[in-house]
Order: sequence, then structure tokens, then C-alpha cells
Amino acid sequence: MIAPTTAPARAHTPPDWWQDAVIYQVYPRSFADSDGDGCGDLAGVRSRLGYLRDLGVDALWISPFYTSPQADGGYDVADYRAVDPVYGTVGDAEALIADAHALGMRVIVDVVPNHCSDRHPWFLQALHEGAGSPLRARFHFRPGRGPDGEEPPNDWISLFGGSAWTRTTDPDGTPGEWYLHLFAPQQPDLNWDSTAVQDEFRCILRFWLDLGVDGFRIDVAHGLVKAPGLPDLGRYEQLDLLGEQLVPYFDQDGVHEIYRSWRSLLEEYPGQRIAVAEAWTRSLDRTARYVRPDELHQAFNFKFLNAPWDAARLRELIATSLEAMRAVDAPTTWTLSNHDVIRHATRYAEGDPALGLRRARAAALLMLALPGSAYLYQGEELGLPEVTDIPDEVRQDPAFHRADGGNGMRDGCRVPLPWSGTGAPYGFGPVPGGPAWLPQPPEWAGLSVEAQTGDPRSVLELYRSALRVRRTDPALGAGRSVEWLDLAPGVLAFRRDSDQGAVVCAVNTTGEPVRVPGDVLGTLLLASADEPQVAQDSGDVLLPADSAGWWRSS
Ligand code: GLC
Ligand code: MG
Repeated sequence: MIAPTTAPARAHTPPDWWQDAVIYQVYPRSFADSDGDGCGDLAGVRSRLGYLRDLGVDALWISPFYTSPQADGGYDVADYRAVDPVYGTVGDAEALIADAHALGMRVIVDVVPNHCSDRHPWFLQALHEGAGSPLRARFHFRPGRGPDGEEPPNDWISLFGGSAWTRTTDPDGTPGEWYLHLFAPQQPDLNWDSTAVQDEFRCILRFWLDLGVDGFRIDVAHGLVKAPGLPDLGRYEQLDLLGEQLVPYFDQDGVHEIYRSWRSLLEEYPGQRIAVAEAWTRSLDRTARYVRPDELHQAFNFKFLNAPWDAARLRELIATSLEAMRAVDAPTTWTLSNHDVIRHATRYAEGDPALGLRRARAAALLMLALPGSAYLYQGEELGLPEVTDIPDEVRQDPAFHRADGGNGMRDGCRVPLPWSGTGAPYGFGPVPGGPAWLPQPPEWAGLSVEAQTGDPRSVLELYRSALRVRRTDPALGAGRSVEWLDLAPGVLAFRRDSDQGAVVCAVNTTGEPVRVPGDVLGTLLLASADEPQVAQDSGDVLLPADSAGWWRSS
């Protein structure tokens, strides 16, 4: 049964839905658990679709739910066409997609083409057949260097710490070749020179497209092609998780041919199926190459995610982003958090959670006022902070457990969501007192969906209001540019025009209230903090510290 909606219909629809879609990332393990095993699942997601529809998002991106030993939270796929029993069945996926469509939302799923699981039948068989088997050409197997091949074939370092190579044992028990894994050893990299690999992924895309998905988020889209000969890096320091260094295994020109072929595959299907690249590149211009007209539709804008809370820096970055994407006529994307980074309420906090939350609220209004498409990460609409005190013995991030992994703290943004009630698992699972795969902090009782619903000061109601305005106001949503307003130092402000009027967004990134001219702003639509005061005499508006607002302007 589908309940009546509280989210307004869109007042304006761009020609392509993805030009300005608000896409909500579901990390399925932590979203909602229907069967009480402590792990979120697809039936759980399905049961909460009404919540997402009422929140006002256009689409869901669901992180991997495929058959997987879960060495890296499902980003180690053993069967790309099957659902892991922890999450349900392919039938559940189909039902979820159908229900989402009935509620007017699209569904994007992850595809993980850079690597598979070490339990994938291809890898198991390649191991079993030994050196020289043609099946090994689907991966990067190499003999070792040094006496008896004891040294790895090159000096590449895994993003999760340690060497990017692991030595195999031959069927007769003697040490054998090495294989490449840019991530965990349980994630062997696929060799994209192999036509078997190329064909297999085309079939995988078709499988999910036939099942009804509206598109794909491409994991490590910048990593598929490696520089010929796998040359040494020549440096030995630990690289950042998906950092921005120029390295022989990221952002190689050869990846673009793959995406051109995927684009034509997507276009064979009706209904505007899309793909969004997770591509960490050195510059926005390099990112723009992934969204040229015959390639992918969107790419994540990680520069925005990493930007400091500073009006001038944000303005420069937003302007550069819009310019880079305008050059290829693609929408810019905006995202503040995902399952790999510290939640932005904590990132912005500088040790003061209340400050972090004020900035997070303001950042949401900034992001949702910008032209293009926005990605929300589950729980940010509740203002969830990063959980920083998870006991080591329950941590699951593989990078945490790799000897010298530098970035192994991703569990803190993956703690199961609080939905309702006063005791764990706060409605995440069906049984009060039941399990949750990571412990939830007791303060989360006050952050649950139930606790925030109807409270006009809550983060949840701020997101609901912002998404409602965005859906109905033609000045917001799709676009390629903004008109910058110079109101005061420390204030980021811009105007977006439409034939039915304009919206002004102003963000005070300073820790002090700032006075700005009221006639430039107009009538207040929405504020992230207390309503800005208007001076009786001058009409000036006092923007509270670390806050943002939207105004309707003539
Ligand atoms: C992507 C995913 C991350 C995963 C990695 C390896 O960056 O977002 O969670 O660990 O790829 O698949
Ligand atoms: Mg479950």
C-alpha cells in the first residue's frame, strides 16, 4: 500500500531528470534491518521508501548489496548478478525498484568494475589453474622480483595500506605469482585489457538495466586502466585513500573508451538511464573528461566535499566547478558526505559539535541552492555526527586492520541509522534491544527520525523544507551558473534567476553575525539558524554566525 505523499510534485522538470536530481545514498548495511540480524537489508530499504519520498529526494543510490564475503563492506563482489543473502534476494531488489518507481523515485546501483572478490569464481579458477593459464589474463598476475621472486613485481602501495601485491601459492604448495590489488588483498584488480572482462561487465550492466535500475554509480571509475608495463611509482609513502597524486594506476586516458562504450549501452535503454563516476582526479578539468557528451552523465565533485568552511575558498571552488562542467555541458554535482569520509557535521566542527552542526545546516542550504545535482548521504538529514569511539574489536573497515593503513576510520560514518524509540537499535531493527552491526551512541535517541519529525528546529525538518522549496521553485535546481553577489567579507552569496523570479542564497561562514543590505536579499524563505534580524532603520539584515538563508527576490 502506498501512502499519500507529503512531498510536493515538481513544479518544473528539466529535460533530463539527472540534470538536477537530488540523489540519496543508501548504505544498505546501515539503513534499516527488516529481519533483526543486525544488518540492514533490501526489505528494510523497501519499508522506508515512504520516508525518502516524503523527504523529497528524486532518486536513491544504493551501495553494493551483491554476493560478497564483505571484506570491504560489499565492495568485494563475488557474484555481480546475485544479492547477498544478508541483504535478501534478486526478487527483493526487483520489488524495491518497482516500489521506488511507483513512488516516483529512481534507483541507481553500484557497479564495481576495478576489482572483484578473491572468492569470485574467475579468480578462484585462475588461482587453481596456475601460472600460464589464460584465465590469469583477466587479472594482473606477475612473477615476483628478486631471488626466487620474493619481492613484489613493482612498488605500488595498496590504498588500504601495505603492498598492492599479494603472493599466491601454487596448487603444489610452492610460492607462486603475485597478483595486484589496489585495495584489500581480498579485492584482486581486474585487467581491463581483457575482452572477457569488458564483455562480462557489459552483461552485468544489462542484467541490472533489464531489472529496471535507472543507472549506476561506478566505483573507482578512474582506476580501471593501468599504465602499460605497470611502472614503479618511485615513492614509498602511504597514499591517501583515493588521493589526488599522479600515479600510474589512476586517471589513465584509456578509461574513457570504456565509458564511451557504456554510454552507448545505456542509450539503448528507454527512460534516461545514467552513470555517475566516482573519479578522484587531480583537477576539475580532469573530472570533466568523464562527463563529456558521449561519456558518463555525472561525476562526483570531491573538491567541494573537501573544501574548507570559508566563503572565499568555497566561492572559488564552486565557480571553478561550474566552469569545468560547463565546458563539457554537464551538470555539476555537489556532495558533502558519503560512506568513505568523516561526516561533515564532524568535519566542520573543529572539536565543537554545536559549531559543526550549525555549519552542516548552513552547508545543506548552500549545496541545495547550487545549480546541478546533489548527493545526500543517509543520516546527514538527521545531522548525524561521525562516531569516533567505536571499540577496535568491532571495527570492520579493512583499512583499519591493515598494518599501516592510514585511513581506516570509515566505520564511524557507517553506524546504523536511528529511526525511533529511546533504546538501541532505535528502530534500525524490528526488535527493541536487538542487534546492530555497529554500536549506536545513546545520544542518537534524540536524533532519530521520530524525535526530529515535527520539530521545526530539527535538521530533518530543515532538509524537508529545503527540498520542498527546491522542488517547487523554478529558480533552483538545474543550471550551469550563478550570479555572484559581493555582500560582505566572509559571506558567500549568489542569485539564481528564473522567469518567475529569483532566489538569493547567502552564507555567513564567519563566527560573527554579519550585516548585509536587505534590499539585495528580498523576502526570507528559509534559514538554517535563527531568523536573521532586520534593522528597523536601514533594512539591513543581520546574518547569524555560520548560517545560511534563502530569500525570494524580485
Ligand atoms: C570506493 C568505495 C569504497 C571502497 C573502494 C574499493 O572508493 O567508495 O568504499 O572501499 O572503492 O572498492
Ligand atoms: Mg537484516
